[in-house]
Amino acid sequence: MILNIKHLLWLYYLSSNTLSIIQPISGSLSGKVNLPCFFSTIPTSAPLIGTNRTANYGKDYLRIKWSKIKGQEKSTVLVMQNGVIKMNPIYRNRVSVPSHPEDVGDASLTMVKLRASDAGTYSCEATYGIEDTHDIVNLDVSGVVFHYRASTSRYTLTYEKAVQTCKDIGASIATYSQLKAAYEDGFDQCDAGWIADQTVRYPITRPRNGCLGNLKMIPGVRTYGVRKPSETYDVYCYVDKLDGEVFYAPAAGKLTFLEATEECKKYKAVLASTGQLHAAWRMGLDRCDYGWLSDGSVRHPVVHPRIPCGGGLMGVRTLYRYRNQTWFPEPFMKFGAYCFRGKKRQTILLEFLKCKLNVQCMF
Ligand SMILES: *[C@@H]1O[C@H](CO)[C@@H](O)[C@H](O)[C@H]1NC(C)=O
Ligand SMILES: *[C@@H]1O[C@H](CO)[C@@H](O)[C@H](O)[C@H]1NC(C)=O
Repeated sequence: MILNIKHLLWLYYLSSNTLSIIQPISGSLSGKVNLPCFFSTIPTSAPLIGTNRTANYGKDYLRIKWSKIKGQEKSTVLVMQNGVIKMNPIYRNRVSVPSHPEDVGDASLTMVKLRASDAGTYSCEATYGIEDTHDIVNLDVSGVVFHYRASTSRYTLTYEKAVQTCKDIGASIATYSQLKAAYEDGFDQCDAGWIADQTVRYPITRPRNGCLGNLKMIPGVRTYGVRKPSETYDVYCYVDKLDGEVFYAPAAGKLTFLEATEECKKYKAVLASTGQLHAAWRMGLDRCDYGWLSDGSVRHPVVHPRIPCGGGLMGVRTLYRYRNQTWFPEPFMKFGAYCFRGKKRQTILLEFLKCKLNVQCMF
């Protein structure tokens, strides 16, 4: 075991010293990250000799440019030149660089209110005097907000029950900023749900009859305001990273709820929670088959929309008993199974060490 730890430590140092550039920065939905970019502050321009024969260093020219790279294309995020900042409107009020980068040689980009769509590759170009610095940074954004309806009917959860329900399915009740960030990426759901601040809201990107709320025809997150905790609605839950893997059990036939529970045990796993399935979907799990989950619901994850799978819609699709989208299927009905298996111990240990040594804390 001791040998093992040493080996892991060595691996850790190797990765932190030589491979730091390819390690992505990770942030959570609606959270904050710092994309590092440093440049040399030693003046590089030639001194101008004035008529009075004293050397006079011209003020060094500084230009910082952050771009996002998509395949062959680069789109500008922010440009700072001689203290003047210009930015792409989609990043308005969300990105900044230090106010006097030349003092510290720091052109790092701070990004707040993170959206899932912010994930990707960024380039930083800093021109100071005649020196050019060029850096590449990768960003990962984890976390997903989803609508949850109790196993019975629509709008049955008090505030207290809503908080507990999210916990029971491996998630937590979403905050307003998480719901807003999800909305900015296109989340549209015409069902009023509790969120953490005890308000009731729903996100609408395509205003339509029955979903107009307080904003009428304007896209946005509708609100009912702060409600009495005894009132009943659905809920919006949030789940961050998945600490393990979710997979569709490769059973020969379809299974009842109880059979599905047993099937996962064969793979040293358990039925996945609805929260875990959403987190797995966010990380790319795509499957057309409906499967049981631990709360007794039946769902399947769609990453690449196509008509024969989930009707061309993206996201985790839910199968309800009735057409009006209420009640989970009866437990004797037959579907597949989504199982969850925790991370292997060694991986957890490596992550724990990284955490202790202060990089990418997951604990
Ligand atoms: C020399 O000239 C420069 C620029 O023309 C000026 O800023 C500086 O004060 C002058 N130095 C002296 C000692 O006069
Ligand atoms: C949904 O449909 C079922 C069966 O038709 C019915 O019993 C139930 O009252 C309906 N629920 C709502 C909220 O409309």
